[in-house]
Amino acid sequence: MGGALPWGDMSGLSSYRDQFPVLAERTYLISASLGPLSRRSRRLAEEHLDLWQRLGPEELWFDHGLPRLQLCRESFARLIGADAAEVAIVPSVSVAMSSISTCLDFQARPKVVLSEMDFPTNHYVWRAQEKAGAKLDVVASPDKIRIEADDVVARIDEQTAAVNVNRVLFESSWIMDLPPIVAAAHAHGSVVVVDDFHGSGIVPLNVHETGVDLLVSGALKWLCGGQGLAFLYCRRDLIGEMEPRVVGWFGTQDPFDFDRTQLRLRNDARRFETGTYTLPQAWTAAGGLEIILEVGVDAIRARNQELTRRVIAEADGLGLEVLSPRADERRGGLVRLRIPGGRTRAEKVLHQLFEKDVVLDSRADTLRISPHFFNDEGDVERCFAELKQLL
Ligand SMILES: Cc1ncc(COP(=O)(O)O)c(C=O)c1O
Repeated sequence: MGGALPWGDMSGLSSYRDQFPVLAERTYLISASLGPLSRRSRRLAEEHLDLWQRLGPEELWFDHGLPRLQLCRESFARLIGADAAEVAIVPSVSVAMSSISTCLDFQARPKVVLSEMDFPTNHYVWRAQEKAGAKLDVVASPDKIRIEADDVVARIDEQTAAVNVNRVLFESSWIMDLPPIVAAAHAHGSVVVVDDFHGSGIVPLNVHETGVDLLVSGALKWLCGGQGLAFLYCRRDLIGEMEPRVVGWFGTQDPFDFDRTQLRLRNDARRFETGTYTLPQAWTAAGGLEIILEVGVDAIRARNQELTRRVIAEADGLGLEVLSPRADERRGGLVRLRIPGGRTRAEKVLHQLFEKDVVLDSRADTLRISPHFFNDEGDVERCFAELKQLL
């Protein structure tokens, strides 16, 4: 998880600006939504196209595609402190969570604990299991910024099948306190399913140390890896117990034996894999992951905290309400600001900023600003200079 670049080596970090051509054109502060394309991922995407043009499926898939996917599994495993055999590649976080949800016995244990701040797809996945007996127990936020771990812990009991946790809340960027939740879930024989889309690559984590059971994340945001490729981590000792009812040939022990008489799921996390992979994305994802690992999540985190502190200072200067944690240790990668005048005004400001080449996103009456390690103070200043004109 540690980085090759020592923190403080700003020349090292800023040299990456050239890796991301969009930075020369636009003030790009929205890696929480879509990480920008690097030169490295572009070169790799072109490598894939060249191979596809030259080779047939045997060589393309076996000599290049499957090893490239394995590299992605290994890289993601390194990022979260897992073993590659504990990582599956799936098309999206929604698919990953849906597969996981089919492994649980809601007749034996109906309850799923989650929070009102979790990403909607989490709610939809568990709601879809209501027909199978699942009962959602949704923890409320006291301020629509944070979810207290104690409030989650208080809901976990012997009836609980799963505790769904977004490690970093997508709207406010509040970082959940995982250890007490994991401890309570395990004490009651329940599993913890972490949606880490806003944590992986930006806030360090070691899944083995924290004891998380299952974790899902995707390549497209902070990992700068492009769309169509996501990850599912399953703790090694749990793999044998997980029998997804969403399956496909690539999740079986020998996909090419074409044996229709039985279903023999793989013995590693790849039992969650299903059909033909979104293979081109393995090249772009590998490029993004390589950069993130090269820089190191610790260094990325430190730089991101500097930049989000700067965002907060600028917002205070304009008198804008900050709807993200002010404490560094509780704040993930982004800062959310309320735009006076409601949702329509926030969306208008967002589009006016696009016209000035400042790229953010909006949620309801707020703007989200998410600097990555390759952004700098100049980006933040420019964003606020434009914002000031519009308010
Ligand atoms: C926390 C979180 N989970 C899940 C999703 C949706 O993931 P996917 O589209 O891969 O299903 C998002 C998308 O922004 C997200 O922010």
